[in-house]
Amino acid sequence: MEDITRQLYAYDNLAVLNDELVLPSESVDLIYLDPPFNSNSTYNLPFKNLGKDVAAVAAFQDTWAWGPEEDEHLARLDAGPRTKLLADVVRFAQQIRGPRTSVNLAAYLVNMAVRLIPMRRVLKRTGSIYLHCDPTANSYLRLLMDAIFGQDNFRNEIVWRIGWVSGFKTQKRGWIRNHDTILYYVASPEAIKHFNKEYLPYPEGYVRRDGKRPTGRGFPIEDTWNCSEGDRLDSIMIKSFSREKLGYPTQKNLDLLERIVKASSNPGDLVLDPFCGCGTAMHAAELHQRQWIGIDISRFSAGLVRERLLKNIPTLSDEDILVFGLPQSLGEARTLAANDKFEFEKWVCGAIGAHGMYHNPGDKGADGGVDGVIEFYPLIMGKTPQKELAIVQVKGGNVTPDAVRALYATVKRFDATAGVLVCFADQMTTVENNRNLDTFADAAGEYPVIQGYTVEDLLQQKPINLPTYRLRDDARLTP
Ligand SMILES: C[S@@+](CC[C@H](N)C(=O)[O-])C[C@H]1O[C@@H](n2cnc3c(N)ncnc32)[C@H](O)[C@@H]1O
Repeated sequence: MEDITRQLYAYDNLAVLNDELVLPSESVDLIYLDPPFNSNSTYNLPFKNLGKDVAAVAAFQDTWAWGPEEDEHLARLDAGPRTKLLADVVRFAQQIRGPRTSVNLAAYLVNMAVRLIPMRRVLKRTGSIYLHCDPTANSYLRLLMDAIFGQDNFRNEIVWRIGWVSGFKTQKRGWIRNHDTILYYVASPEAIKHFNKEYLPYPEGYVRRDGKRPTGRGFPIEDTWNCSEGDRLDSIMIKSFSREKLGYPTQKNLDLLERIVKASSNPGDLVLDPFCGCGTAMHAAELHQRQWIGIDISRFSAGLVRERLLKNIPTLSDEDILVFGLPQSLGEARTLAANDKFEFEKWVCGAIGAHGMYHNPGDKGADGGVDGVIEFYPLIMGKTPQKELAIVQVKGGNVTPDAVRALYATVKRFDATAGVLVCFADQMTTVENNRNLDTFADAAGEYPVIQGYTVEDLLQQKPINLPTYRLRDDARLTP
């Protein structure tokens, strides 16, 4: 097998970034990071089709609080002669109070500082780093970046226009916020030589001021992106992006990441995304033959990224992607189920490609036990495939007959087509004895409306018995 790095880590990135075996010094060509902002929000996994009576659950909390760990981080920054400056920035932020700049801003900054330092270590001298942030904290992050990477290595503040604003947002008083900021730094001036300048084609019929048609490549791309007709990256509002969407909050656009990957790396280079979410940077890296490492603390993320890549990159197979930090054996899966029910559910949903989870840990609520939703497209001859849904319910412990019967009721309540109950194999007799025996069919065969799927099946990567035709995320690869 070719020795190509494709690695996903379901860990806090601080541990991975400081692991010199995983990430040796000067080993990475390009870092893109899109950390949770200091916006004090909780990001939920939405699923609009399911109605309003379900409570969405947090995919991740976008807030950093100040606690003993932050005290330790600050003390460590203070102790280093070169990092003392970073501690000063954090303390400066601590002193600024206001609705948007509470003490959490300092907690956010101290957490970013201790992660950006090892990012500097792992970046090659020819490498680049793109820090994606919003106006809440970008000026403070700029100070940290200047202190860590050097002011001379600051290249651009890229303004990325997020999308075409509509609806209630347009009613807002004042200027409508519609951009993110991407801070672009290099590890050393040498990196500039490796920059692949990108151009936008001249519009049709374009002539220069002297009336002549231009020769050459087009307009070089500036530091404002997605701001003109000629530079339309898919925006959140544009249809083709909605085809990419995986239900992951804060998912970034593939063509935004492709632009960064193409400009600041070359085929074979190593791309690192330490906050990789549903893996947009990994997807862009694959499309352009780069190697990659993705890290995300959520156990939901790694499975989703794996699924996304396998679905969209036909040449990739399972064993090409190494995943660390998720259960690999039955024993590890049982331990996770026993220790953290919610993380167990996240792991299962991520691993089987289910989107959206609807109840908080231990919370029965009105959701009827919807832990995730699988979208599929049954093949009916002569008809355009239409999306249908399978409700996923995850049980890490005993399964009761009532729970199996309730899943059928939930499927009906949400007008879904199927229900999958995921449990350990020793619970399958209960599932089999109590499940409704209805079936549904498509051109390829017949499927049970309610079915059990075991954690053992998942570990062996056996497919769930649902129509296999699924639309690809990337329109360009759609068959
Ligand atoms: C803004 S999202 C990234 C979205 C991503 N760019 C995409 O296109 O899908 C931030 C991610 O950082 C992850 N995260 C938060 N804290 C983390 C940490 N300490 N280590 C690793 N990942 C973390 C969250 O779980 C979340 O998925």
